[in-house]
Amino acid sequence: MQLKGLLRFGAAATLLLSPQQVLGFKVSYNILWIEGTPLDYTNKNLFKADTATTVDGGIATLGSVDLAGNAETQGLKQYATHKNYRLIYVIVEVAYRLVANKAAGIKTLADLKGKRIGTIAGSSAQVFVHTLLESAGLKAGDYTEVNGGVCMRPPCGDNTFPSQFKARKIDAFGVWETSVELGIEAVGGESNVVVFKNASVYREVYSLYAKAEDLKNPTMRKKIVQYVKNLNQTLDLYRDQPEKIYPGVSKSIKVDVPVLRNVWEDHRWGPTSLTDGVLLDYLVKEDRYLAKTDKRAAMSRAELEKFIDPSVYEDALKL
Ligand SMILES: *[C@@H]1O[C@H](CO)[C@@H](O)[C@H](O)[C@H]1NC(C)=O
Ligand SMILES: *[C@@H]1O[C@H](CO)[C@@H](O)[C@H](O)[C@H]1NC(C)=O
Repeated sequence: MQLKGLLRFGAAATLLLSPQQVLGFKVSYNILWIEGTPLDYTNKNLFKADTATTVDGGIATLGSVDLAGNAETQGLKQYATHKNYRLIYVIVEVAYRLVANKAAGIKTLADLKGKRIGTIAGSSAQVFVHTLLESAGLKAGDYTEVNGGVCMRPPCGDNTFPSQFKARKIDAFGVWETSVELGIEAVGGESNVVVFKNASVYREVYSLYAKAEDLKNPTMRKKIVQYVKNLNQTLDLYRDQPEKIYPGVSKSIKVDVPVLRNVWEDHRWGPTSLTDGVLLDYLVKEDRYLAKTDKRAAMSRAELEKFIDPSVYEDALKL
């Protein structure tokens, strides 16, 4: 009875708050990918400066939320037309994997010539596949790209990569985890496949984004700095005590724990330096590639330098 009364009071009290406070602090990311789960953990367990709520999406929705998580590929695509977006923290770097079927006669990357390769058009996975194959001298026309869907947990639908791979509709595929892991399992395990990855050629740089105007607003900035601090604490757990994290991640993205364990080593949990020039070089290179595929001008190094804002992390260090 008392509890009920309190709840009623709580509901009435919210009417006096501004719309922004009622809606809380909104963080948008794709709720099905491993990379976004530290945001979920931070929202639920650590961030106390406001009521954090999750919006399923990513940087494409940053206009109507406070923070967004997404790969650098989507970050660059959005920054090209939203120059107020800022990359403020790297949550995780992931060496994507491309898995190929030995039964299709594939031993090296060059053997992928003329083969059917699954990936997702317009995504970081496609950038990965193109860039990796280019490193072996293969151009886009040298192989056939096949679109498909990701699968997080068996049974995988017919249109997902692990199923297409098993049915030999594709000879190889490259995408984020856990689909690659499930693809390997679908054809009977490691001994039947060749796995290619090269983090210096392509790695996903899954990052946190904010809007420049929010970073200039003292109230918002304080919350965002606190958020980055808490997110960084979450990542200590992800890096050092993953066994504590697996059950929650497994539940929220519906991936089985043994599968998570197998893909964890491919995830390098943040923080990553935003100031040593490595990230900037990487973004400059990727943007040149994206400019061609998106038929726009490449952004200058100076413009891309502005995209990276290390000051939030620096402020978080002082907390
Ligand atoms: C990764 O790619 C770089 C640049 O192309 C190359 O120098 C290096 O040998 C590659 N590493 C592996 C393990 O293939
Ligand atoms: C983030 O975590 C790393 C690793 O524990 C630590 O060295 C760094 O000081 C932390 N940064 C902040 C802003 O708390």
